[in-house]
Amino acid sequence: MSSNKDTLKSTIIVALLLCIVCSVLVSGAAVLLKQAQTENKEYARNRDVLVAAGMFDPAVHDKAYVEETFKKFSVNLVDLETGKVLSDEEAQAKGIDPANYDQRKASRNPELSERIPADEDIATIKRKARYAAVYVLEKADGTVDRVVLPVHGYGLWSTLYGFLAVEGDGNTILGLTFYEHAETPGLGGEVDNPKWKRQWPGKKIFESDGNVGITVTKGGAADAGSDYEIDGLSGATLTTRGVDNLVHYWVGKNGFGPYLESLQAGEV
Ligand SMILES: Cc1cc2nc3c(=O)[nH]c(=O)nc-3n(C[C@H](O)[C@H](O)[C@H](O)COP(=O)(O)O)c2cc1C
Repeated sequence: MSSNKDTLKSTIIVALLLCIVCSVLVSGAAVLLKQAQTENKEYARNRDVLVAAGMFDPAVHDKAYVEETFKKFSVNLVDLETGKVLSDEEAQAKGIDPANYDQRKASRNPELSERIPADEDIATIKRKARYAAVYVLEKADGTVDRVVLPVHGYGLWSTLYGFLAVEGDGNTILGLTFYEHAETPGLGGEVDNPKWKRQWPGKKIFESDGNVGITVTKGGAADAGSDYEIDGLSGATLTTRGVDNLVHYWVGKNGFGPYLESLQAGEV
């Protein structure tokens, strides 16, 4: 004879109770961890800005250093079409707070973004936000020391998101770093290899005639003495091409070209 415990009703009640307990635990953990997640995300963003700017070495620097150093940067909202920095009032009028501006979200908002015509979309990103948040470090005399620009574009398997840091001359690269991508570790994923990234500092973006000179060549094809050539990744030609394309897009006239021009003219 079956006991009470074995009845269908008891089984359903136990299963329901278990569901309720589990969902309370999961949603409770999500709520409790939300703040920590937001803080960690912000910390990672700030650290990556410093990595691109050549101001962070994981062997030497700690979390407190990142927090202190990042505070020296200001966040400017750049109108990509004109290259001009929006004043606080202008940003406010558009309902944007530069410090909390989410460019990725904005690029999905029809009011804050535009579709990129196919023949201009060399980075394969389809849409772009009208405004970009750039990180600016000033020298003691108030002139621009360096700027860190958000960049992204498609590789082989994924969109690579990163930062390109440029000196105050608007031309000399300080570094390129990616904080998110899904390229294959050991192949396209070698964009994260510090040895590969060490090629970027000191390279020039523009040639003397103003044309974009910076180029990521096929693996093994770069001239080491060149001011413009970066040796691509062997066995990962498609990711390499993606990086070349995204850098070209973002330093070009449809990306930060107008802003970099203002920087070169000392107007930022
Ligand atoms: C499993 C697998 C993963 C791959 N991942 C990448 C990658 O992340 N990036 C890339 O450019 N090529 C990747 N490739 C190689 C490409 O398919 C292609 O062969 C390569 O980009 C050509 O580069 P190469 O001309 O330098 O040999 C991968 C290939 C395989 C089989």
